Amino acid sequence: MRVLYVTSELNPLIKVGGLADVSAALPAALLKQDIDVRVLLPGLPSAREQMAHMRLFDAVNSPFGMVQILCGTAPGSSVPVYIVHMPDLFDRPGNPYAGPDGNDWIDNYRRFGLLGWIAAHFVDPQQSWQPDIIHCNDWHAALAPAYLCAANNTRCKSVLTIHNLAYQGNFPAKVFDELALPKEYFGIDGIEFFNQVSFMKAGIVYADKITTVSPQYAYEIQTLEHGCGFDGLLRLRQPQGILNGVDYDTWNPETDDAIALPYGVDTLERKAAAKRALQQELKLEVQENAPLIVAVSRLTRQKGLDLIIEVLPELVAAGSQFALMGTGELEIEQAFTQAVARFEGQAAFIPGYDEKMAHRIMAGADVIVLPSRYEPCGLTQLYGLRYGTLPLVRRVGGLADSVLDASPVALQNGSATGFMFDQLNSLAFLHAARRAIECYHDKALWRQLQQRAMQQDFSWAAAAKRYIAAYRSASAGRAPVPPLSAGSK
Ligand code: ADP
Ligand code: GLC
Repeated sequence: MRVLYVTSELNPLIKVGGLADVSAALPAALLKQDIDVRVLLPGLPSAREQMAHMRLFDAVNSPFGMVQILCGTAPGSSVPVYIVHMPDLFDRPGNPYAGPDGNDWIDNYRRFGLLGWIAAHFVDPQQSWQPDIIHCNDWHAALAPAYLCAANNTRCKSVLTIHNLAYQGNFPAKVFDELALPKEYFGIDGIEFFNQVSFMKAGIVYADKITTVSPQYAYEIQTLEHGCGFDGLLRLRQPQGILNGVDYDTWNPETDDAIALPYGVDTLERKAAAKRALQQELKLEVQENAPLIVAVSRLTRQKGLDLIIEVLPELVAAGSQFALMGTGELEIEQAFTQAVARFEGQAAFIPGYDEKMAHRIMAGADVIVLPSRYEPCGLTQLYGLRYGTLPLVRRVGGLADSVLDASPVALQNGSATGFMFDQLNSLAFLHAARRAIECYHDKALWRQLQQRAMQQDFSWAAAAKRYIAAYRSASAGRAPVPPLSAGSK
């Protein structure tokens, strides 16, 4: 089976968040299961600069102008990578979506329209390699299924994976004419969404199969609360939830070269050295018995970090320390800078993005916290589990699917791996944090929880098998969906 995996991020070439980790790990896991998988990326400078064995694969006259497709591999990977090389659209500072001022590029519809168009162009009979499946990730790639339909393709099937439904790629209606799609596609049964062009909707409507990154999120996005306006459509399309995995070659405390003294489930006492080193690095008081609670996160409302600011005084008063590393919205950055200033030696904020430091934090901390408003999957809680850094999370999305709360029953039967709260408020959060702190001070119990957490297996091999089954089901044909215009919402 030949799969073209279309994504806007790929670690280490282009990374903003978890999508990059998934795009690096899932294709590699598919390759191990004999899938002929290749990745298609926008040609950002950071991708071009780091690619190995790069050569020209093709030059194409697209509706967006002449474009080159370059081919190579990412460092340390044998998965072939194609990049869409069009300097006018992609040679810019900032991240894949926005400039250094944080504002989205105004021509994102052209940049990602092109990505989708090129993906669909791989199906052209003249191409030397033609996919059986185009696997689109998030709105950035979601126009590809529409282009496939417009080309009357029947051979290649498309799968859309939703990593975050809140980012939809919506643009003013007037851009539609530039996308080179049939006129009738701009309608309620097509890519029109409240009189805008919606890339995410295009994917949801035209893809043969929809998946999302956890079973719980698959359920949640079919509800009014989390459906971001697409819940009705998603109830018709029935997304399948496949929980993300962890690349244990990268995230493993036994082999992690970012930490001085590696440790494992039987050598957990060595984790204390990583904690000491981290406290020193972050200028926190070196207190062996102070539970160190951390977060490594994009700074955005989704992550519910405001709850941490609310309870920080109580956390410190309860004898714990706190550290956050992240970048994102300026307001959240400022709020944390102010909040930690009151607790010198007990709380730290590291503005910025540092992959190695993320590993040192994961190893040195006791608790990793994700109080998310919503969380399609979440990866840092999965990394925390492997590092014996117990997750303290809100029961939502992939967090609900990957952590087992230390309830009295779970503590008794030894199944607990972390701490959870339900309500999105500081009281509920604080209550869970206090439970975690109490458990932390019972050394034998904490060790038992850590060992249980470290033994959890979220390896990609199992998730890759589920994706292969999803590709097969897409190939078998799409279930008929009644048109929205028939009033089937
Ligand atoms: P999301 O994709 O919503 O940001 P995930 O939990 O799926 O959330 O993935 C976040 C990824 O980004 C993890 O690999 C995490 O370590 C990484 N990350 C987030 N912020 C930073 C940062 N400031 N420095 C280094 N890595 C970060
Ligand atoms: C998105 C989600 C996150 C998920 C990641 C990878 O960025 O916010 O929850 O883990 O995609 O699928």
